[in-house]
Amino acid sequence: MKRYEIKYLLKEDVSALLGTTICVKGWVRTKRGNKNVAFLAVNDGSIIHNIQVVADPQKFEEELRRITTGACIGVEGKLVESQGSGQAVEVQAERIVVYGEADPNTYPLQKKGHSMEFLREIGHLRLRTNTFGAVMRLRHNMAMAIHTFFHERGFFYFHTPLITASDCEGAGEMFHVSTLDPENPPRKEDGTIDWEQDFFGKFTALTVSGQLEGELGATSLGKIYTFGPTFRAENSNTPRHLAEFWMIEPEMAFYQMDELTALEEEFIKYCVRWALDHCMDDLEFLNKMIDPGLIERLRSVVDTEFVRLPYTEGIKILEEAVKNGEKFEFPVSWGVDLASEHERYLVEKHFKKPVIMIDYPKEIKAFYMKLNDHVEEEGKRQGFSGLTVQGTDVLFPQIGEIIGGSVREENYDKLMGRIEELHIPMKDMWWYLDTRRYGSCPHAGFGLGFERLLLFVTGMANIRDVIPFPRTPKTAEF
Ligand code: 4AD
Ligand code: MG
Repeated sequence: MKRYEIKYLLKEDVSALLGTTICVKGWVRTKRGNKNVAFLAVNDGSIIHNIQVVADPQKFEEELRRITTGACIGVEGKLVESQGSGQAVEVQAERIVVYGEADPNTYPLQKKGHSMEFLREIGHLRLRTNTFGAVMRLRHNMAMAIHTFFHERGFFYFHTPLITASDCEGAGEMFHVSTLDPENPPRKEDGTIDWEQDFFGKFTALTVSGQLEGELGATSLGKIYTFGPTFRAENSNTPRHLAEFWMIEPEMAFYQMDELTALEEEFIKYCVRWALDHCMDDLEFLNKMIDPGLIERLRSVVDTEFVRLPYTEGIKILEEAVKNGEKFEFPVSWGVDLASEHERYLVEKHFKKPVIMIDYPKEIKAFYMKLNDHVEEEGKRQGFSGLTVQGTDVLFPQIGEIIGGSVREENYDKLMGRIEELHIPMKDMWWYLDTRRYGSCPHAGFGLGFERLLLFVTGMANIRDVIPFPRTPKTAEF
């Protein structure tokens, strides 16, 4: 008996199948009915919608007793046009197999409307809810959109290592990778740990970014992108931070600032449009159940031109807002690293559209960003150098920073200057510096936080709910 996926039965033209016996399999969402007829709503994950199975309670007394919410069943039966409203077809059961029961006394997903916090505690089962089904299908679709976007534009998918010795962002938030005995590591004469005896013969950690190796790819293949997990041991318990998250990092030889920001904008719009074109059933569900402004917000992003805003101008706007009575938790002046409340003010209240902020003070950005040659007087007044770098952050409504990127410093001496200023250990950087020593080229790139994109596209409020198994401080269950 041929099994059909529910998506096929509900979305394709199945008129030729009407009246024939088919097979469907899936998990029972609800069982209802009376002594004359039983209705089972069955879902197999292929689509948010369920197919209705109609069963005779006398004939299937034994099976129906074992079937409760969450049970897994297979049904053979006649495909007919649906009597009730809601969907086009349903299955009149001729044979039912119960693959797995779900004891209603212990199966935790009984009623609708569990809190997100509760669902996180049952992360192994929450995937079977409508909401997480919708989010995971969108997650898959965004991955497909990303690969398609870059492939169509001649970028090569480039795999950078997860285990590394270099701290790209320089924030010192790396998870160590070691096979040494933590109780009793080998020590050097001065008492410090002898990493030379470790597995890789040196100190290693999980990567915080594939960028540095990505630059090696771009300076040979021209245009590359990475798409993989990254790890940050930052103790940020916020709705926007994960300790393990996925990042997409394109890197392009010969791109300048305007080409970089154009790509950032085109890329995000492409992904959002993909969601609108391919995932409307899931979006409609999320729009109804999670975030009533979702679809409208997605449409508006696709149709709006993002603002380009130099940091210095952004600070002026924020200072003006404070003068006019806006209350921020953190103070604003030239040189501060903007907090998410500041970013959201600019995006949600001032411009009411996505903002690409550029030209940040060099003091608050990573070592690899290209130095501008003009000096901001306001920066000097505030006790900074006044020098800015060609960094770009894309700021989004609800989210804040969704992309961080920059034009790279390709000048060897200037780059060395920054490395020395910041006391970055040279021994792990020699190979990176060779890109500037041999055939150095202007280039640029950015990193998009995959889960931040998903927050935007799904309307979910917490980043823990857009990845199957979140890793955050003090949680690594499942
Ligand atoms: O701004 P970040 O730190 O930039 C980089 O890592 C660069 N090396 C990227 C590049 O130029 N190739 O991180 C990039 C993006 C952020 O804008 C944010 O969307 C996301 O990664 N991100 C996180 N997402 C979830 N949890 C965290 N802890 C994140 N930290 C950064
Ligand atoms: Mg950043």
